[in-house]
Amino acid sequence: MDFCGRLRKIPFTPLEENHVSTDARKKITVPALRARKTVGPRIAAVTAYDVTMARLVDEAGVDIVLVGDSLGMVIQGLPNTLPVTLEEVCYHGRAVARGVQHAHLVGDMPFMSFQVSVEQALTNAGRMMKEGGFEAIKLEGGVDYADHVHAMVRAGIPVMGHVGLTPQSVHAMGGFRVQGKGEDSAARVVADARALDQAGAYCIVVEGVPADLARRITDAVSVPTIGIGAGADCDGQVLVCFDYLGMVRDLKPKFVKRFAELGDAIVAATRSYVDEVRSGAFPAAQHAFGMAGPRAIGEPTGTGSIDPPRPPYGPTDD
Ligand code: KIV
Repeated sequence: MDFCGRLRKIPFTPLEENHVSTDARKKITVPALRARKTVGPRIAAVTAYDVTMARLVDEAGVDIVLVGDSLGMVIQGLPNTLPVTLEEVCYHGRAVARGVQHAHLVGDMPFMSFQVSVEQALTNAGRMMKEGGFEAIKLEGGVDYADHVHAMVRAGIPVMGHVGLTPQSVHAMGGFRVQGKGEDSAARVVADARALDQAGAYCIVVEGVPADLARRITDAVSVPTIGIGAGADCDGQVLVCFDYLGMVRDLKPKFVKRFAELGDAIVAATRSYVDEVRSGAFPAAQHAFGMAGPRAIGEPTGTGSIDPPRPPYGPTDD
């Protein structure tokens, strides 16, 4: 069955009518995400690692926020994701959870936190839910981890699969290489996705595979596929926030579209700050406290915000 074809036939109405993120936005749940396979619209997922980014992307209407183990590379500056720990993912998860109101929050199980045994996988998935504030976990791999996924799902832990280019296998793959180019390799990726589907995963990330293969996988499984570097025919897309915001300036992977150039904007703004500090233009009178004056810096305005009231940020003036 051509699920993608069906999705494409769903009429697309303009932002105000069809944008799932506006107005009475409901909390995005696992059943709601599953249903998107057939009813659409496509699922928009991004990564986030802190509360400030989480608030912004949640306000923008993303469906899924993933605390990826990509944090090892984009937050910690590591060459790959292998050293990332469960404690680190949970630490970032707790921060992101404080900023997400509507999106579905997923945490990535780090390398060697689930591969050892079904018992280890179940125990650590439980820790992710309890200590990271996650609503689901993601793990890399397919056929080899179907039993692990099944055990988690039976325990009430929703599992997002991840097939194709699985970064935790960077050394086995000989680098971050597109997977599934030959027929044998393509068949293995399809088998991985099918195994996850049968084990009860509620959606599957498909990373770094040819677009035709991603379409084949999407047609072969009953749950939504979420592509990254996998072409247009998945049921959704995911990107690392720093990539699509243009903050990783030295790398331009082919599959990333930069929707902003925040890296340039940050450098320019920081240059202005440096100049104004040096010249004495900043701080101006309005940035200084008097003997009498406003009550607090950053006091919540209380209107039009999706955020819960927050305590004032900074010292009060009384
Ligand atoms: O770690 C991560 O951020 C990911 C996404 C890119 C899918 O796995």
